[in-house]
Amino acid sequence: MPTAAARTEAKNAKPTSSGRRKTADSRSRLKDAVAMLKADHRAVEKLFGQYEKAKDAQEKLRIFNRIDMELKVHTQIEEEIFYPASREFLDDDDIVNEAIVEHQAAKDLMAQIEQMDPSDEMYDAKVTVLKEMIEHHVEEEEQEYFPEVRKSEMDTRAVGEQLKARREELMAQMRTTP
Ligand SMILES: [Fe+2]
Ligand SMILES: [Fe+2]
Repeated sequence: MPTAAARTEAKNAKPTSSGRRKTADSRSRLKDAVAMLKADHRAVEKLFGQYEKAKDAQEKLRIFNRIDMELKVHTQIEEEIFYPASREFLDDDDIVNEAIVEHQAAKDLMAQIEQMDPSDEMYDAKVTVLKEMIEHHVEEEEQEYFPEVRKSEMDTRAVGEQLKARREELMAQMRTTP
């Protein structure tokens, strides 16, 4: 669990926000776990859209780095909090297990892209495949997984509080560790 100090630190870091932090701020009003995760999905989709319009390698790298950070935080809070909490309320584990496998596949591809130079001729292809993998994963979460959770007894507001606290902690960590 995040400490109160970590939460305060993350809160205090907000006023000096860059565009990246502003995105997280506008989402921070949300209280429900599912609404929060869906808002993350929209934010990542928007970034992939920006990547497609990027004019040069430098801009591609800057946008990929934001996608990379968003996806790392998002997959981590899902894996640490949302997936284990919701697993208890679902009839079978397949949906959760498949989501974890899809996360790993995306993370493997992200790690490959991190090692590449954006001027590499395969760079765009890797980012495009990452986008397609994420689109597929998001569709499964939003069409199958989240509706099951909504139908269940899970307290999505309580889980939302945990997601929010952990996200703030991870964002604060990422800002201090380049
Ligand atoms: Fe997700
Ligand atoms: Fe996910």
